[in-house]
Amino acid sequence: MANWQKSDWRIKPRVQMPDYTDIDALHQVEAQLASYPPLVFAGEARSLKQKLGAASRGEAFLLQGGDCAESFEQFSADGIRDTFKVMLQMAMVLTYGAKVPVVKVGRMAGQFAKPRSAATETIDGVELPSYRGDIVNELDFTSIARTPDPNKMLKAYTQAAATLNLLRAFSTGGYADVHQVHAWTLGFTESTKAAKYRDMANRISDTLDFMMAAGLDGGSTHSLRTVDFFTSHESLLLEYEEALTRLDSTSGKWLAGSGHMIWIGDRTRQPDGAHVEYASGVLNPIGLKCGPTTTAEDLKILMSKLNPENEDGRLTLIARFGAGSVSEHLPRLIKAVKDEGANVLWSCDPMHGNTIKSATGFKTRPFESVLREVREFFAVHKAEGTVPGGVHFEMTGQDVTECTGGVRAVTEENLSDRYHTACDPRLNASQSLELAFLVAEELSSLRETRTAAAV
Ligand code: PEP
Ligand code: CO
Repeated sequence: MANWQKSDWRIKPRVQMPDYTDIDALHQVEAQLASYPPLVFAGEARSLKQKLGAASRGEAFLLQGGDCAESFEQFSADGIRDTFKVMLQMAMVLTYGAKVPVVKVGRMAGQFAKPRSAATETIDGVELPSYRGDIVNELDFTSIARTPDPNKMLKAYTQAAATLNLLRAFSTGGYADVHQVHAWTLGFTESTKAAKYRDMANRISDTLDFMMAAGLDGGSTHSLRTVDFFTSHESLLLEYEEALTRLDSTSGKWLAGSGHMIWIGDRTRQPDGAHVEYASGVLNPIGLKCGPTTTAEDLKILMSKLNPENEDGRLTLIARFGAGSVSEHLPRLIKAVKDEGANVLWSCDPMHGNTIKSATGFKTRPFESVLREVREFFAVHKAEGTVPGGVHFEMTGQDVTECTGGVRAVTEENLSDRYHTACDPRLNASQSLELAFLVAEELSSLRETRTAAAV
């Protein structure tokens, strides 16, 4: 947009943002962040956009995943490495199923701010502001911990920079070598149900071994040894986003310098609101969460605001309706997209519509519901003749017990064993891989249907 300014969101209605009380401290932090280097460059955001464009046409597939909320306390090299490794393993499985490149995007290096269902929390008659992620305040239920502190933005920036630095090192420094990551962590032998996945894993391993033996892995510079890995987060805390916005001198356009891709959450997608206003003016690929309350009318307005030039790869619609509800909601949104002739990439978030409270009091997600929503997403796209171009989910490389189910069945009673999330329950390494196998199956059956139709 020609006259867009990075501060334009300030005159729009805002929701889900903290009310900072120390305005001087806020201004100081904003000035400091504005003087720091951006975390990403415009060329990278453009390259991701191009890859997402390919995914929207079925020529690639988007794999987007990571923490619900990154945490200051749990920040460690091992944590980053394990999540990165599981993402690469999933990508390998998906490549096998889809026979197209997988675009890898982490919910990492900036995923700190959280929308909440209530602005305050009351315990034993004491009411305090809700926890909004480590970039805003702290989880402890004390008045001091819950007071939004702008200085936390500086800590988030530093952690994001260090995370990105390690991801860049892993991506190019040898760690991403396929031969290092095809040691599958899924407990295949423990379940007869997993037999077909074990089979697929063996075939992938065989293929890789064969390629290596035949010298087809191409030495140290080939793409089997390096990988493109991008970062993304919900663009929620707009003071932070604005302070990291930079003018790209090549194109004269604005870049959100906080991450390669940013998305708008299901609670902040008001067409005339602050979050849509901010995202409309930056050149990055934009995600838009679409939940059960998204209307076709709103979606049309949002598409025209967020992608007025109908650019390929600019807009990813992330469907998150909940298992059992996809066929009720997705077709009308697909119709809105068709009516407008809009270019979008359809991705499926099977996490946020499937959160429940377990009998033991933990917030959890039944793995069966997660898988079911993915299957329903593929089925609707098959019926509509549209492209299911990606998945978006919350996971960690750690062996946590936050979602129930999976081949190494986590039960409601197990949830307390290793429940470490700073916000929503995540898939563990084994569940993530199992999900990748399911998606690979869906993709390969889709490919077979298309090939048969083309013959
Ligand atoms: C999230 O992705 O963590 C999230 C809060 O999602 P949604 O906006 O779809 O509820
Ligand atoms: Co979440």
